[in-house]
This record gives sequence, C-alpha cells and structure tokens, in this order.
Amino acid sequence: MQFTDLKSQYAALKTSVDARIQRVLDHGQYILGPEVAELETALADFTGSTHCITVASGTEALLIALMALDVKAGDEVITTAFTFAATAEMIVLAGGKPVFVDVEADTANIDVSLIEAKVTSRTRAIMPVSLYGQVPDMVQINAIAARHGLAVIEDAAQSFGAIYQGGRSCALSTFGATSFFPSKPLGGYGDGGALFTDDDALAKAAREIRVHGQSGRYHHTRVGVGGRLDTLQAAVLLAKLERFHWELAQRANIGARYERLLAGVEQVAVRPDRNSVYAQFTVMVDARTEVQAALKAAGVPTAVHYPRPLNLQPAYAAYCCPDCCPVSSVLAARVLSLPMSADLSVDDQDRVVEALVAALRAGRS
Ligand SMILES: Cc1ncc(COP(=O)(O)O)c(C=O)c1O
Repeated sequence: MQFTDLKSQYAALKTSVDARIQRVLDHGQYILGPEVAELETALADFTGSTHCITVASGTEALLIALMALDVKAGDEVITTAFTFAATAEMIVLAGGKPVFVDVEADTANIDVSLIEAKVTSRTRAIMPVSLYGQVPDMVQINAIAARHGLAVIEDAAQSFGAIYQGGRSCALSTFGATSFFPSKPLGGYGDGGALFTDDDALAKAAREIRVHGQSGRYHHTRVGVGGRLDTLQAAVLLAKLERFHWELAQRANIGARYERLLAGVEQVAVRPDRNSVYAQFTVMVDARTEVQAALKAAGVPTAVHYPRPLNLQPAYAAYCCPDCCPVSSVLAARVLSLPMSADLSVDDQDRVVEALVAALRAGRS
C-alpha cells in the first residue's frame, strides 16, 4: 500500500497525459508555451478567481505574493506555527518577520480569536494556512484584515479544490497560493504552483515578478525571480484536471468513510460550512511512535504533518518564545496522517482502519 497512490492515477490518465506531453514535445515551446495560458484560464474558471498566475512551486507562489504586496524588511506577517516551513520561510526570505499565532485544537487551523492581539503598526499581511485541505475561518480573517488595512494570503498549498461557504479555496482573499507538488490534491509530475487574485494590479505585479521583474523583454521594472511553471507540467496538470471533479468526490467519500469507521478515534474536525479535500486524513493519538511502528509492521505507511511547530524549529525560534503556541505543540506530538488518495481502494482503507484500531487497542491493554 502506498501513502499516496500516484501510479493508479497515472494508469487511469495515461492516454491523456502521454498525448499532452507528446504535444509539448512536438511544438517545443517549453517555457511559457500555450499549455500554461490554457491551464491558467482553466484554473481561474475552476476557482472563480479573476486571475491565475502559474508559478514554479507553492513556495514560489508564497514568495511572489509577498513580493507583489511589497512586503519588506521590518514588515510583520501573521501566520501559524503549525505548518510546513515554506510558509514562514518565504516571509523571512522576503525580509519580513513571521508572527506566529497558535491553532485550534480540533481543526489545527489558525485560531482567529488570537490574531487581532498580534496586529501592530508594522503588520502588513495575514497568511493563514488551509491545513490538511480545509480553509480556516476566512470571513473573520478577512474582517480583521479589513479593519487594519492588511492583505490576506491564503497558503492553500494543501487545499486546492476545497469549498468554504460556497467559494473555492484560493479565491477567498487578496491572494490564494497553491502547490502542485505531486502528492497534493491537484499534483503534477514535479514542482509547480499557482497564485490567484481578483486584483488586476497585483496580478500584473505577480506576472512580472515571475519572470525576473520584466514588464517587457529585458525591461526589468522590479526585482523578481525565475518562477515560471514549465510547459510540460502545465500539460500534465491539464490532463489531471480532466478527472479532478471525480477525484474530489472520491476524496470526500474516502474521508467520510474514514470518519465513520474511526468514529472512536480523535480526528481533525471539519466545520459544517466548508469541506476538506483531505490532502491528509489526520487523526490524533497518544504514544504515536508505538502506533506508527505497529502500522508499519502491518504494512500501512503513515506520516506526521508536522512533528515540531515552527516556533520550536532552530531556524524560526528567534521569532517566538518556545511556549507561545501550546496547542501546536500538543498537536505536533499527537497527529498522524493515514494513507489518502482518490485511488485508495476500499480493501486498503479497511486494512488501515483495522491496523489502527488494533494498535490503539494494544496500547490501552
Ligand atoms: C502548507 C504548505 N505551504 C507551502 C508548501 C510549499 O509547496 P511546494 O512544495 O510546492 O513548494 C507546502 C508543500 O508541502 C505546504 O504544505
């Protein structure tokens, strides 16, 4: 059993993926070829965003959004400590200071009740993370941002396709930034990402930053990066989009089945006004090391997202005190992600559930 089953997905889409890749090999426009524009139109339509700017990775999407917003030395960006490092990493790389806010114990998403106390005269933006595939309380986050004149960048690396109060993740705030890392809900065959915005000026800035700040050939209006998505990845993603709605429905079914079969196990909660695309299906357990070892012995791969909050990572410890995110610390010790992908079979899912229930029972006896 694989943690993320990408082989079955390729088998299902082989004809289309191969044909689209072949088309790129035939026309030879490997940089910003026609597939890139086609994908941007398709993704903008899908999310309901006015603009989609594809980029080299989810990490690059965050950096370009911060640069487009002109976040610079001394600026503060409020975010969560319970996330992948790229979130805070890009704030620091842009010259800003990450200000960590703790998360909710049940959803593991940013606790909005703690945000406003962290706003200062230097705050420029809020960067919430849609962890595990579920958007946080975006209405409240946008309201706080509006009160203080801040931008909101949704780190939607894990939530492409998720729905929040009728809108799509990525199209809910100033910028949405997603990742097409292969194991993500919409994944390519390599690195990739995209930015979404309704703001024409920010979209123009992001497009320029993506190509070394050029507003025309060799006319560098601003400092940028080499941040384009490869045409070949755009071709793969266009093929993957063909069954993406089916995959989202499958993820919802598999997630609901896990929820039902693991009713006695503590799980990440999903709020009623939104869904999760289950980039991860995550439970909370005690004695995680032992549980993980028992699952491994039963042939069930698992992962931990994430074993240490960023405020306790050497690279980011200076931005926050060790005990400033206590809920994140507890979650980091207890979360365990189970195999999840649209192609996870019922039999394999049953094996996961059986192994987990047995491991938890053994731990109690
Ligand atoms: C929350 C979060 N932010 C950012 C990223 C970075 O995305 P990428 O790997 O495409 O650079 C990831 C990827 O794992 C992520 O999970």
